[in-house]
Amino acid sequence: MASGQLLRAEALACTGHRHACHVMLYSDTKSQLFGRIPIRHVVLMQVRFDGLLGFPGGLVDPSKETLEAGLTRELLEELGVAVPVSEEDHVESRLAPAVSAAPSNLITHFYVKKMEEEQIREVEKASASTAVDHGLEVMGMVRVPLFSTKRGGGLGFFLSHSFIGNARSQLINSLLRLHLLSAPELQCALRSSLKMHA
Ligand code: GTP
Ligand code: MN
Ligand code: MN
Ligand code: MN
Ligand code: MN
Ligand code: MN
Repeated sequence: MASGQLLRAEALACTGHRHACHVMLYSDTKSQLFGRIPIRHVVLMQVRFDGLLGFPGGLVDPSKETLEAGLTRELLEELGVAVPVSEEDHVESRLAPAVSAAPSNLITHFYVKKMEEEQIREVEKASASTAVDHGLEVMGMVRVPLFSTKRGGGLGFFLSHSFIGNARSQLINSLLRLHLLSAPELQCALRSSLKMHA
């Protein structure tokens, strides 16, 4: 297990900590950008109320509900659809890094769930219409561009935005682990995202 990670059970045994659960929903797709660039996968993130990019989900009190039930409740609030998430979708749990001198008491749990493209479209529709948090906690759902243009656009420019917590590495690690793009493609995007900040 990578450093800083906790087993799901270890994380739940930490008393006095807050818990947050977030999920990366994704699907395969045959759609082609400009009718010629295969986009291959749809990956959903959100623009949060604070302007940062993150994954849908939120705070869960494990004394009142399971992590996965709490995550499903948050998805209903933020997406307008109760996407069921199970323990099998769990990827990692870790203690959030300390903020200035104060030690962190937040444990973040991350999940990924593959859906059908049609289900992703339903989520997108509901999140912009019936979701109670639309325009409040969540400014909108966005698709992550996975392609790269010659000028470093696409994923590279997307990664140069600001992300909440470790959502940026959760995204990068998931793209690699799930083989949604290759390591060289990702390296290229990472290089261009760094140039944007220079
Ligand atoms: P409220 O209903 O207003 O409490 O918000 P929420 O329950 O939806 O909580 P939120 O989604 O903001 O998540 C709680 C905390 O988890 C945040 O303050 C961040 O520190 C952290 N967090 C939020 N999104 C992500 C994410 O995508 N990845 C990671 N690692 N942490 C996140
Ligand atoms: Mn929420
Ligand atoms: Mn949230
Ligand atoms: Mn909440
Ligand atoms: Mn809320
Ligand atoms: Mn693939």
